[in-house]
Amino acid sequence: MIVTAHALAKTLSGKHLIDGKLASPQLGKNFPVLNPATGEDFSEAASGEAGDVNAAVQAALKSQKAWAKKPARERGKLVAEVGRLLSEHQEELAQLMCLETGKAIRTECRVEVSAAADIWTFYGGLGSELKGETIPFSHDMLTLTQREPIGVVGAIIPWNVPLLLMALKVCPALVAGNCVVMKSAEEAPFCVLRVAELAQKFLPPGVLNVLSGFGPECGGALVEHPAVRKITFTGSVETGKIIAHSAAEKLIPTTLELGGKSPMIVLEDADLDRAVQGAVIGVRFTRQGQSCTCASRIFIHRSLHDEFVARLMAKVNAMKIGNPFDETTDIGSIISPQQFARVRKYIDIGEKTPGAKAHYCGQLTKDPQFAQGLFVQPVIFTGLTNASPVAREEIFGPVTSVMMFDEFDEAIAMANDSSYGLAATVWTRDLAKALQATQRLEAGFVQVNQNLVVQANLSYGGIKDSGLGKEASCEAMCEHFTQKKTIIINMR
Ligand code: NAI
Ligand code: MG
Repeated sequence: MIVTAHALAKTLSGKHLIDGKLASPQLGKNFPVLNPATGEDFSEAASGEAGDVNAAVQAALKSQKAWAKKPARERGKLVAEVGRLLSEHQEELAQLMCLETGKAIRTECRVEVSAAADIWTFYGGLGSELKGETIPFSHDMLTLTQREPIGVVGAIIPWNVPLLLMALKVCPALVAGNCVVMKSAEEAPFCVLRVAELAQKFLPPGVLNVLSGFGPECGGALVEHPAVRKITFTGSVETGKIIAHSAAEKLIPTTLELGGKSPMIVLEDADLDRAVQGAVIGVRFTRQGQSCTCASRIFIHRSLHDEFVARLMAKVNAMKIGNPFDETTDIGSIISPQQFARVRKYIDIGEKTPGAKAHYCGQLTKDPQFAQGLFVQPVIFTGLTNASPVAREEIFGPVTSVMMFDEFDEAIAMANDSSYGLAATVWTRDLAKALQATQRLEAGFVQVNQNLVVQANLSYGGIKDSGLGKEASCEAMCEHFTQKKTIIINMR
């Protein structure tokens, strides 16, 4: 089975996808791609720079007019066809993702491919929703707005959920009539490139182009290219700000999804079983915590603290950490040595904090084949405060901190005491408290007694340092991938 993914990675080695075809980088440079579960470089990806970016943008520009002229529902039908094709290729794509990201095949990779295919299918049906309005302006003037494509969209994605994020950016952009140049993350270039290659069966050449490469050389060149008229980005706050600066120079719009420090508040009357299960999902243990919505701060009523921690530890202790291709594995490896070091750094900070305790959970593989793998045992901290860097900064690892409160207002205040504002959950049977929490929590996405992941038809995006704009949903397509024109027709 693993051979298939390796073979596929070989055929995609050293290539971009430009104007409908796999293409070598102009300067002939490649970089190694790591299998983080084994510590081996298994293939090489094309290292894109300004010349490649320009070739891809020119291909997108060349296709832009004809694509925009195609009726919106026709564009949608093609996008939906890609979704169907991805479902047919689910296993192959899941294996490729497993190889390059170290995420477990059963708990993560297959699930992500089907979620991505669902997004292609969802947006494929939304062509007819690109509506404008008529405005009651004057009785003898017909006044209306019309949504038009913006032009060439530059999309930059990270490595944690590559196919999901690719779909959330590419699909609404394409259905709205834009052409796209996407830069994949250097850690996970191949599954994204394979999707782009498969998509060429239905999309005209140049409509979707994919480059691999490093941030400043390839991503920076894409943001700065004069013909790129919109940037959609997911990643760190730091990079998001650099991109926003460059976009400001060109006065082009951006959508930025920049992570979080998402609180989970468990009130005194909560259903503890549900809350514990919600924490297992919320911390994204099966994704090594590498999620922008990771429930990395759990505020629990003092009376429930010990019981909650014991039950959460029992659940996580039952999880197997190791070979991501093994069907019995729950938790795979961290993506890269850099992220591994970052996660270890925060665990060390927590461990050295007086009064804090690190509870290591889960069954770590002892298989010598994976001795070089970037595996981290999940850590549940107790005894930290909300002022600790562990509770303030985004770790992007399988680490959470359980902190106590006595009063509802105190829990809300601690939850909001963060530079981030992406997602939040509250767990209670008290309807009034639940409603108050939904109103008072500073986050773009608030859930009560559940912890669902991104859904295709629900708009998703943060406030504060978590970013600008929304993704997923019809709203995101209309508001972030079109520009509105106002038209007045004097009928006299
Ligand atoms: P990053 O933000 O540096 O990288 C994300 C993407 O941006 C990659 O494709 C990268 O090549 C590109 N990029 C980097 N610098 C760029 C530049 N100057 N111009 C244009 N594109 C550029 O994130 P990285 O280094 O992978 O992870 C660092 C931290 O960021 C993580 O520990 C985590 O806290 C956060 N992060 C948040 C994510 C989210 O879902 N919001 C996803 C990935 C990382
Ligand atoms: Mg970076």
